[in-house]
Amino acid sequence: MADQARIIDGKAAAAALRAEIGQEITAIKAERGLVPGLHVVLVGDDPASRVYVNSKEKLAGEIGMNSAVHRLPAETSEAELLAKVAALNADDSVDGILVQLPLPKHINPDRVIEAIDPAKDVDCFHPINVGRLANGQASLIPCTPLGSMILLKQTLPTLAGLEAVVIGRSGIVGRPMAQLLVQADCTVTIAHSRTRDLPAICRRADILVAAVGRPHFVRGDWIKPGATIIDVGINRLPDGKLAGDVDFAEAMKVAGAITPVPGGVGPMTIACLLRNTLTAFHARRGR
Ligand code: GUN
Repeated sequence: MADQARIIDGKAAAAALRAEIGQEITAIKAERGLVPGLHVVLVGDDPASRVYVNSKEKLAGEIGMNSAVHRLPAETSEAELLAKVAALNADDSVDGILVQLPLPKHINPDRVIEAIDPAKDVDCFHPINVGRLANGQASLIPCTPLGSMILLKQTLPTLAGLEAVVIGRSGIVGRPMAQLLVQADCTVTIAHSRTRDLPAICRRADILVAAVGRPHFVRGDWIKPGATIIDVGINRLPDGKLAGDVDFAEAMKVAGAITPVPGGVGPMTIACLLRNTLTAFHARRGR
């Protein structure tokens, strides 16, 4: 084993994926005169959300996808937001709808997510899509888990039979990630804040996925030598720098491969949003 882990270059993998999607869009335009459309709804002015949304818009534009951001004031009522979602559902030029979370406190996010046409739900948050994913029938797959799976498949010759530990049980990352790992024939453990002896559980993992939102939470001595580490955390430190959920310097000495933060899973998430928009386009309008 090398004495330093291989760094999994999510930035390069995401650029390659976007280029591939861009080529497909160019072909669709030329052959059918159609352009897939992604519509993002942003309510209020959460600074982190604004950065994400701007990045989505820029990258969609770069590959020739139609994209629009609907910026609504923080005081927008739930009824007004539901009316906006209904209008996007009814608009045939809209293939993907993403309502940026978190929403202001007076709006119930579940009600909004359930109002999105499941065929346009590129986040894969609608209960129908969550159910299809659990059944192994999904076409849309949540963006961060999808991006993480692509990186794993590019890193490991096979996933079948490997022990995977996912730390975190959120609906956005932990749970769907575990479903995808099961579908890839891994033996999967979901660990969380009430798990007993988390370091010992993690040391079993050939694949360790950290999605807890706490900087440097996973230490080097929790890692099985040679393991592949997917760090989903994006934590802002007091000095303004970004850090993952894994202590990167310690992990580098033990792991076989690891995604850095930034430049690992993050860029893949947005590339997979564009992939999902194209998938939704094909599913709605035929190939
Ligand atoms: N806020 C942070 N990440 C996400 C995401 O993946 N989708 C949506 N809709 N909102 C988010």
